[in-house]
Amino acid sequence: MHFPVIEKTAVIGVIGAGTMGAGIAQLAAVHGHPVQLLDTTEGAAAAAIARTAKALGTLVEKGRMSEADCSAAIARLQPVDKLDAMVDAALVIEAIVENLQIKQQLMRSLEQVVKPDAILATNTSSISVTAIANGMQHPERLAGMHFFNPVPLMKLVEVIAGAETHADVLDRLAALAESWGKTAVRAASTPGFIVNRIARPFYAEALQLLQEQAGTPAQLDRAMRGVGFRMGPCELMDLIGHDVNYAVTTSVFEANYGDRRYQPSLVQKALLDGGRLGRKVGKGFYDGTPTSVPEPVALPSGAPAKVVVAGKDAMSKQLVDFFTLRGFSAVHQPESSWQGLMIDDMQLRFSDGRCAAQLAHESGLDALGVMDLPLLSESANAIAVAFSPRTSDALRQQVCAVLYQVGLEAVVLRDVPGLLVARTVAMLINEACDAVWQGVCTESAADLAMKLGVSYPAGPFEWLRQLGPQRVITTLDHLFDAYRSERYRVSPLLRQMAWVA
Ligand code: NAI
Repeated sequence: MHFPVIEKTAVIGVIGAGTMGAGIAQLAAVHGHPVQLLDTTEGAAAAAIARTAKALGTLVEKGRMSEADCSAAIARLQPVDKLDAMVDAALVIEAIVENLQIKQQLMRSLEQVVKPDAILATNTSSISVTAIANGMQHPERLAGMHFFNPVPLMKLVEVIAGAETHADVLDRLAALAESWGKTAVRAASTPGFIVNRIARPFYAEALQLLQEQAGTPAQLDRAMRGVGFRMGPCELMDLIGHDVNYAVTTSVFEANYGDRRYQPSLVQKALLDGGRLGRKVGKGFYDGTPTSVPEPVALPSGAPAKVVVAGKDAMSKQLVDFFTLRGFSAVHQPESSWQGLMIDDMQLRFSDGRCAAQLAHESGLDALGVMDLPLLSESANAIAVAFSPRTSDALRQQVCAVLYQVGLEAVVLRDVPGLLVARTVAMLINEACDAVWQGVCTESAADLAMKLGVSYPAGPFEWLRQLGPQRVITTLDHLFDAYRSERYRVSPLLRQMAWVA
């Protein structure tokens, strides 16, 4: 069987006229396709088209679309009330309720209607494409075409291969997505595909830290934003909705037979149970919009501290450059058995998954601090730190003041293993490595997907190149030791990378 190129004027069927279906229909219509939109709820398709007309009208008002293009796109959107109407569609994309049996039934029925070489696609976010294709006469014609919300704005489309999907079908869908101005990445049908799988630790590690009383949601968000993430984990979960975020986590956890790496959090369950679903109900971690006003840090009086950057790895060099950029001269001492900052006589080591208390104990020091992974972009403005219990208040203040002088607000967390950015980034990299190791996607697809799908400042393999595999492994191994949990087991791919590095 051969599946032809989907022409620019080919009819596209969209089933389900909710949030995603309406967005997909709009996208296809704007790019010149006649679109047939079907929904089982009476009037839903027409209402979605009316909403789209309003949205496009706003673009015209803002001068981003011509009136003629707007009218033509709206005219191409046709509500239909029967599957039979889709007889001429070259592609039908379903965006109906997230239910396996209903999606399977729809695909089996659609096959009876469309032409033999028509392609069928599912926008499912969590169901196996292979399972949806089960029972179809031609399962090779079905693939996942996973858009992100809001469809017209989000650049990413995951094109998902089920066990029997024909290679042509994947090529056609990827080409179509690109012709609609999207970036297509390919993935095998496995739980969470790329983005919803690799992103799990971004939420899970923050939730774990909240459970361990490491800091407040505002502190965690501040520390994550401080190194260049567009949003912190808590504010992002509030935006996504805790019901949605918890459901995705639970689905990936269950689909992986209870692998603790994906274990849902009691902290999030409590929010859910209490109806604190996030921004859509006006309360979640935050009531209303979070504010992240930096706490003023008092500068100690007396002589300025002597600052030394210790270590010769990439992170240490980056820190020297960062200090220079901020007009602060730090002595660089490459020959050092540890990496981080020496402020007067106090060590502030880069987190390697051990907490400050452990490092102080192992090195026979009373006072010792750890600082979070300094993934410092030019715009960095905050970093998490923690101190061993015997560190005096004066020394803590001194550290905060030095960081403050280079424009970094010190977010002081409880002394937990791996702080926030170090453990989260290590886990994101590890998850991405396992996804590649297991044939879900390529390294470049993982990087693209995470940057476009969830707006990370860099992709996991870009971070890995920056940090080197050994630093990531060390962090994970220390977390593994601290928690004795399979959750922090190192991906075989990461270990191999370290051996060949
Ligand atoms: P929604 O609830 O906004 O819309 C679903 C629509 O499908 C409703 O209008 C409903 O009346 C209609 N429908 C239900 N069963 C139907 C059937 N058998 N035939 C025709 N129409 C039917 O849902 P939403 O959020 O648009 O999600 C749709 C699909 O897209 C789901 O599979 C979801 O997992 C997936 N998805 C959702 C994302 C999101 O952020 N909302 C992101 C990516 C994928």
